[in-house]
Amino acid sequence: MRFLSLLVFLACCISPAILGNDARSLNSGVYTKEQAKKGARLYKTNCLICHDKKYFKPVLKTWEGRTLALLYETMSTTMPETNPAGLPRQDYVDILAYILSLSKYPAGDSKLDYRNEALGDIYIKAMDKTK
Ligand code: HEC
Repeated sequence: MRFLSLLVFLACCISPAILGNDARSLNSGVYTKEQAKKGARLYKTNCLICHDKKYFKPVLKTWEGRTLALLYETMSTTMPETNPAGLPRQDYVDILAYILSLSKYPAGDSKLDYRNEALGDIYIKAMDKTK
């Protein structure tokens, strides 16, 4: 009986703590509101001329299952089409925050960061509609 409760404890309490940290979810608030606001301004100046706001939601869908790192690398090296990699790296990550906000992924307390391979831990996935 004791052994069983220990197993239950291990299964319920410890494994989520260990496994849960491996990959961050887009539904857990991976950017801040202020960052998305800044990204919105940058988007208007640099991207709106070719992509309206509706462009990004279906794009994110096609990227499901891949990491934000890959999307970030792609957009920061190929866009704007007329001036690839023409913006500071920080600007691209702020625009990415704005793109996430357009798809209604929730904002949180910490900024999206392109350093330390942080984006590689975040997988693009469908929004959790239960929240
Ligand atoms: C001069 C026009 C132009 C500008 C400005 C521009 N893009 Fe693009 N973008 C394109 C074209 C063309 C494509 C590829 C064709 C398509 O999928 O529509 C594309 C594709 C993309 C994709 C999809 C990539 C993929 O493989 O799924 C993203 C994301 C993107 N652009 C982001 C941006 C961002 C962010 C900016 C602003 C920094 C920007 N673009 C500015 C023309 C432009």
